[in-house]
Amino acid sequence: MCRCRMRPDRVADAPVHNRPALMSKLEIHQLSVHYAATGGGSVHALSDIDLSLDPGDFVVALGASGCGKTTLLSCIAGFMQYSSGQILLDGEVVTGPGAERGVVFQKHALMPWLDVVANVEFGLRMRGVDRATRRATALDKLRLVGLEKFAHSPIYQISGGMQQRVGLARALASDPEVMLMDEPLGALDALTREQIQELILELWWETRKMFFFITHSVEEALFLATELIVMTPSPGRIAHRYQLEFGRRFIECRDARAVKSDSEFIRLREEILGVIQQSAHDELDAA
Ligand SMILES: Nc1ncnc2c1ncn2[C@@H]1O[C@H](COP(=O)(O)OP(=O)(O)O)[C@@H](O)[C@H]1O
Ligand SMILES: [Mg+2]
Repeated sequence: MCRCRMRPDRVADAPVHNRPALMSKLEIHQLSVHYAATGGGSVHALSDIDLSLDPGDFVVALGASGCGKTTLLSCIAGFMQYSSGQILLDGEVVTGPGAERGVVFQKHALMPWLDVVANVEFGLRMRGVDRATRRATALDKLRLVGLEKFAHSPIYQISGGMQQRVGLARALASDPEVMLMDEPLGALDALTREQIQELILELWWETRKMFFFITHSVEEALFLATELIVMTPSPGRIAHRYQLEFGRRFIECRDARAVKSDSEFIRLREEILGVIQQSAHDELDAA
């Protein structure tokens, strides 16, 4: 049993800069996506997705390959058109990419010819932010991810974990309302992955932004999510939802091992693994 428990008054106690902005809200209503299939017909990639995020919500999407996780993130990011339904950010229909949505990919997509800080400030430069402001912002975000000492290192000289921290700082640089992350830790070794999970929770708690995060790891999903959605394929849909507070417990005690060895954490891990395995069997039976 994890001894650390969230004080119920913690959110009310949070400093003003940690409190949610009043207007921010991401709403997804009855979202469906069909792709044209090679050789004719169509793939029903997403069906009737309903999801709602407020500041401080950390939604994690979990599920087997092909259940539509990346398609969902791409629709929220504005990278692709959906077939029906609606995505609203602060009441406005999402029609394309925007600075209020920061994206972190598994492959961090950094520019190797720029140093660390120039990568972080790149988006600000593209939007015409003046040199002094964008440098100050980038250095501030590098401090948040623990990389201020590496601001002038070439990208190729820093480790994969540090590169992913640069990806996080770059996404944070434009101060987005929503952070969108598609398996950002999938390529990292186990120890680095756990360190960056903790960093992500700290960033989440510090900024109170909305997070939408995709992973294949049940343990990672349980640790990070305030709402975990388990998706199943053909068509991609949300089969189960869990409201969780393990991430908040970590913020309270800063002891990830204690949280992850909590009996409730282990029980839910086994339950969700069972759900995913059952859906994989059902899929095979239907094939
Ligand atoms: N560009 C595309 N054209 C046709 N089918 C696609 C395309 N992208 C994804 N799909 C199909 O849509 C479904 C969902 O894919 P995806 O969103 O990538 O799932 P996940 O990220 O959960 O693995 C899969 O069946 C996949 O093959
Ligand atoms: Mg994917």
